[in-house]
Amino acid sequence: MSIYSEIQGNTSLLLVVSLSILGTVVANLVQDKRELVEQNTTEIHLEYVLLDEDNPCVRTCIQGAAPMICRYHFKMEWYHTVSKACYNCPLNSSDCFRPDCIPGDGHKRAVVTINRQIPGPMIQVCQGDMVVVDVTNMLGSEATTIHWHGQHQKEYPYMDGVPYVTQCPILPHETFRYAFKAKQAGTHFWHSHLGMQRADGAYGAFIVRIPEEENPQYQFYDYDLPSHVMVVLDWEKETGLEKFLAHHHNDDDNKPTTLLVNGLGRFKEFIDEFNTTVYTPTARFKVKQGYRYRFRVINAGFLNCPIEISVDNHTIKVISSDGSDIAPVDATSLVTYAGERFDFILKADQEPDLYWIRFRGLMDCDERFKRAHQVAVLEYEGLNTTIDDYPDSTPNYDDSHREGTQINALNRGTESNETFISMPQLESLEKWDVSLKSKPDIQYYLAYDFYTLDNSHFHKAPHYGFFNKTMAGKGCEENYCECTHGLEVPLNSVVELVFVDEGVAYDANHPLHLHGHSFRVVAMERLGQNVTVEEVKSRDERGLIKRNLLDAPLKDTVTVPDGGFWIFHCHIEFHTEIGMAVVLKVGETSDMLPVPKNFPRCGDYLPEPVTECVGSDCDTSCDSNSFLNHVESFFGEGCSKASVIDRALLYIAICIVSIAFLR
Ligand SMILES: *[C@@H]1O[C@H](CO)[C@@H](O)[C@H](O)[C@H]1NC(C)=O
Ligand SMILES: *[C@@H]1O[C@H](CO)[C@@H](O)[C@H](O)[C@H]1NC(C)=O
Ligand SMILES: *[C@@H]1O[C@H](CO)[C@@H](O)[C@H](O)[C@H]1NC(C)=O
Ligand SMILES: *[C@@H]1O[C@H](CO)[C@@H](O)[C@H](O)[C@H]1NC(C)=O
Ligand SMILES: *[C@@H]1O[C@H](CO)[C@@H](O)[C@H](O)[C@H]1NC(C)=O
Ligand SMILES: *[C@@H]1O[C@H](CO)[C@@H](O)[C@H](O)[C@H]1NC(C)=O
Ligand SMILES: *[C@@H]1O[C@H](CO)[C@@H](O)[C@H](O)[C@H]1NC(C)=O
Ligand SMILES: *[C@@H]1O[C@H](CO)[C@@H](O)[C@H](O)[C@H]1NC(C)=O
Repeated sequence: MSIYSEIQGNTSLLLVVSLSILGTVVANLVQDKRELVEQNTTEIHLEYVLLDEDNPCVRTCIQGAAPMICRYHFKMEWYHTVSKACYNCPLNSSDCFRPDCIPGDGHKRAVVTINRQIPGPMIQVCQGDMVVVDVTNMLGSEATTIHWHGQHQKEYPYMDGVPYVTQCPILPHETFRYAFKAKQAGTHFWHSHLGMQRADGAYGAFIVRIPEEENPQYQFYDYDLPSHVMVVLDWEKETGLEKFLAHHHNDDDNKPTTLLVNGLGRFKEFIDEFNTTVYTPTARFKVKQGYRYRFRVINAGFLNCPIEISVDNHTIKVISSDGSDIAPVDATSLVTYAGERFDFILKADQEPDLYWIRFRGLMDCDERFKRAHQVAVLEYEGLNTTIDDYPDSTPNYDDSHREGTQINALNRGTESNETFISMPQLESLEKWDVSLKSKPDIQYYLAYDFYTLDNSHFHKAPHYGFFNKTMAGKGCEENYCECTHGLEVPLNSVVELVFVDEGVAYDANHPLHLHGHSFRVVAMERLGQNVTVEEVKSRDERGLIKRNLLDAPLKDTVTVPDGGFWIFHCHIEFHTEIGMAVVLKVGETSDMLPVPKNFPRCGDYLPEPVTECVGSDCDTSCDSNSFLNHVESFFGEGCSKASVIDRALLYIAICIVSIAFLR
């Protein structure tokens, strides 16, 4: 068994390439006076406080006010859940909230932490603030970088945090200072962009608010509390690396067991002194009857585990995704994919009580596998309850689905009906811009699937090949090949990217994340199985692909850096790891901002040719001091379309996005 084997048995369905990604314009509002009064009465010590409440950057954003400089020091280290810092957690649940205690789902495992917290420190600033984060690598023996997921970094391309594309990784014992302006408003997050560190805990919220006058959604809610942020992800009993290696080299699966919400969850059972089953605590969100609250959801997930969210006895109003406002839609539930963010409004219009907020894992988390699910508590104020009180019903997987309108429904495109609303059926509040012009300047088709080739990094034919097909014929269609996949995009151009999930192998879905830009999702359709690029082109020629060129949802803003290298990749870590990524080179190298002074360099140390050189081997004119030259070298290799990047995965769907690359 291996990566190719476990989803077998369920051919049919699916589709969707769900595009996730970056954020932008939005609007939000923070604390008004009512909130400040209320905060005084909140028992902060009983909540899992992720936010540095003393940081003056967490404030109401005022139009015309001077921006602030917001400083943080991230100390990244290997650590452990349910450590000695947890004392008697969870038998004494107060102990679970002690400093440095990471209860997780109750299982003891190694984790990567920032400042001994999971999630790491929440960054909450106003648009235009300067964010300065010193990242100290205390991991001991591995490198790291931090990506600010949703910030386009147009003016700060070297702060994007992609190893070997925008910076050399930060080595152990080194400190790297990220400094950039928070430009894209809305709900975003930061996370390690190296290896499986995000899966192991290296992530946190990044919220950028704007003044109420600039916020078209302000009228729909009363509170936008710093504590009403939900960071969700799939969670395992072992590290991401162990899971990955066992999956590729042995016969372990890639199916998550549970989910965490703000680092908390109930999963492992403990028996207390009264012979009662107890769990590690869940996240709690407090509301007051009669008021409307803005919640911000971030999916930091790492495996193929879309998460469906609903709140018992309440409906939600979805108002924003990836930092971009949409025309509000009322719904019963919402599905989020790895890397996506959604904002919704919840009206506390029920009887004061405790209600479950339910999180249900789909795809590789669903009932065919381990039924991964989780809960958090919606707690009305005025109840005489403690952190040991929970809603009466015992949560389970089946109860975590509620019938009703669902936003961003799994495997649906524009062919879907009004019950299951897919992304391109939502309307952006940001009306027409040049990315929606009728004829793009350039069109690229990017097709992908899982291919039945032995990947020599994992399966060495003939000794223990998986498909025994290696070296069967000529070219990359028959043999495993690899190179860095690059696409060149001229500055000031509108590019249409058509993703075609060929859909021969397995049902999977790929949340594709684009750095540096946002895009309009102009069409998305599920066609059935085994789709080829030729068929999609033919459909398009016959006028069968309907694009929304009026107000297609923006999964990021349309302005773009002055050139630069930007990575476009699947946000499922295992897929990125086996090649599902492409680097976009926007503009010419001469269009790009200069590399900062004294920027760290990396590369091989091979100073002298051992034998006499011939031809281009002798060319030492390539300045090894230039970081850009290092990245540039990706583009010289004539990577064919059958590169390893294409060889990653899945379904049968097409999705068309439009991006304007403007100066
Ligand atoms: C919070 O309570 C303290 C002490 O009771 C008081 O001094 C302070 O003014 C209150 N703050 C707000 C915002 O009401
Ligand atoms: C539980 O832990 C808290 C500190 O986290 C402590 O104050 C309290 O006394 C403990 N309760 C019991 C019953 O030991
Ligand atoms: C504890 O509870 C379990 C199941 O409820 C029961 O089988 C067991 O006998 C109980 N043990 C004691 C010591 O009461
Ligand atoms: C919540 O909804 C359920 C199912 O409709 C209902 O049985 C229950 O009474 C409701 N709870 C409250 C507190 O209203
Ligand atoms: C709150 O609950 C505690 C324990 O359940 C009880 O002792 C106390 O009297 C209650 N207080 C109120 C105001 O109901
Ligand atoms: C929408 O489609 C689903 C299945 O695809 C079906 O169960 C549901 O009844 C449909 N809803 C409406 C309103 O047509
Ligand atoms: C690969 O070859 C081995 C040895 O001949 C065989 O046991 C195995 O079933 C083959 N694998 C596949 C996927 O055909
Ligand atoms: C898709 O292609 C695969 C491999 O060529 C084939 O086994 C399968 O039957 C096809 N499925 C459909 C629905 O055509």
